[in-house]
Amino acid sequence: MIPQSFIDDLLARADIVSVIDRYVPLKKTGINYSACCPFHQEKTPSFSVSPAKQFYHCFGCGANGNALGFVMEYQGLGFVDAVKQLAADYGMTVPDVRSDQAVQVQATISPLIAVLEQASQFYRTRLKTASVAIDYLKQRGLTGEIAARFGLGFAPDDWQGLGHAFPDYETRQDLSQAGLVIDNDQGRRYDRFRDRVMFPIHNLKGQIIGFGGRVIGKGEPKYLNSPETPVFEKGRELYGLYQARQAIRQAGKVMIVEGYMDVVALAQYGVNYAVATLGTSTTSDHLQKLFKHSEHLVFCFDGDNAGRKAAWRALENALPLLTDALTLEFLFLPEGEDPDTLVRQIGHEAFEAKVSHEALPLSRFMLQEVAARVDLQKGRPEDKARFWHEIKPLLNQIAAPTLRNVMWTEARNFAGLMKPKQDKVFERKSGDWKRRNEPPPMPRQEPKGLEDRLLAYLLLRPVFAASKANDLARLRQGMLENAGLQRVLEFLQSSPRLKELDTKSVLQGMPALAEGWRQWLGQSWISALEPASEEAETEFTDICLQLEKQGQIRMGGSQLQDIERKVNASGFASLTEEERASYKQLILEKHKR
Ligand code: GTP
Ligand code: MN
Repeated sequence: MIPQSFIDDLLARADIVSVIDRYVPLKKTGINYSACCPFHQEKTPSFSVSPAKQFYHCFGCGANGNALGFVMEYQGLGFVDAVKQLAADYGMTVPDVRSDQAVQVQATISPLIAVLEQASQFYRTRLKTASVAIDYLKQRGLTGEIAARFGLGFAPDDWQGLGHAFPDYETRQDLSQAGLVIDNDQGRRYDRFRDRVMFPIHNLKGQIIGFGGRVIGKGEPKYLNSPETPVFEKGRELYGLYQARQAIRQAGKVMIVEGYMDVVALAQYGVNYAVATLGTSTTSDHLQKLFKHSEHLVFCFDGDNAGRKAAWRALENALPLLTDALTLEFLFLPEGEDPDTLVRQIGHEAFEAKVSHEALPLSRFMLQEVAARVDLQKGRPEDKARFWHEIKPLLNQIAAPTLRNVMWTEARNFAGLMKPKQDKVFERKSGDWKRRNEPPPMPRQEPKGLEDRLLAYLLLRPVFAASKANDLARLRQGMLENAGLQRVLEFLQSSPRLKELDTKSVLQGMPALAEGWRQWLGQSWISALEPASEEAETEFTDICLQLEKQGQIRMGGSQLQDIERKVNASGFASLTEEERASYKQLILEKHKR
């Protein structure tokens, strides 16, 4: 939309050295300038800026580009916003793109909008007297109030139903341009939507730009959408965004679901910030649109394969758009259930509790999905290599500089590659990942969470494991995040002479991991522990308890687990009255702080 000539002028005016120097102080080194790279962590400068080429390049992580690219990357801006910002910095005004062309487009759009609005009115009126449709919606649990709020209608079972709304039905061009009628080869015209419940789709101005129509009961296709028209592009539009926009602002988040019915049912139950794609996966256009409304996106999909695939596609499209300010989460529902059936079953409060406590952050979902394709538990180098092979390209796509850095570290911990030495082996073997956007290898240090402390105690005083054998066995069945801890527990619990073990004998017993742990144990916070003291034993017990509690929260109490297993296997319909009643209660209890 911005003329290329303007961008050329801008780049001619905005000298890359002065642009970058504002954010990252540069030092002249020979004909170029250099600094520590802002896009990965490093101690010695490998970030170089060439005034002659008007280009920057990092020899450490491979980041490169021109002044505009730098602003985009550093500020996390889209192209247009980066142009605007840079232009403003240099006192230039981005030319107004609203040209004659835009006026012309407007001229074709307005009549189509009017036709669609008129058709919608017709469908709404018809719903009032269509008892089959009303019964269907009632049976699905919709109230009249919510049907009215979303402007639901009914397209009668009539080949030329719209003829009642448009007297010159046979000849009007705009009816077919708007996708409402189909002209067949014999020159006969008929309604696209017949005998369907109609969901009008609005743009952000509240104008109707298309429809989704659902068959009543069973039938194919279940949903029929308007075709692409000058006013309707499926891959860009989101159902319910117009109705949700205020609630999105209030809630500070937006939920993306798969179906029309999900949006409507959620709204009926007070979850007003949900939108749906129109039967497509979540595109970059969708995401960019959503980011304008909220920095917190929650994808709420079915937990079956299709749902996870849909979520994965959303993740892939999101990676290049991420900034450090954004939060993306994924909530997977029991298999075969969707937000519509779930919220009707458990109500608003328990649904919200699930959203706030069970949604996985993008980082977790990504690691889990990749790890699910590879068995990392055995600690085999081949598995780790495959894990890296799969995850590297994803990590490199993350646009947010800080998140990308943190994710590299996370992924390394996840794969159990804690040892810098071992990292080097992988570097040499798989060539380019160092030169890509990866920060220099760092031993795992900073998080001294419960699992780290537990691991430290177990290595320092393995005999602790003997006194807490049952607790530790239960922990292992929960979900430990630290693969190293998992391995040590396995080792200790299979040792016949557990009471005689000391640090040295444990390390000897696990030779492949010994060197890494020796280094890990050298950290200052571990040296400060006093494993022989009474306090240490108390803390150890305490950590076991806390971890077990967390594990229970993650896994759900056993009763809740049983119910969810049943729902997963055969749906809500299979629950007994009692189970139904306790389901909601158990969810609420589980998430009570
Ligand atoms: P209900 O059965 O009414 O609850 O549908 P749903 O909203 O739960 O839909 P479902 O999960 O089956 O599908 C999710 C979305 O995919 C729908 O809202 C539609 O946008 C789209 N979709 C589903 N079936 C079809 C179809 O047959 N054709 C097209 N074009 N889209 C469909
Ligand atoms: Mn559904």
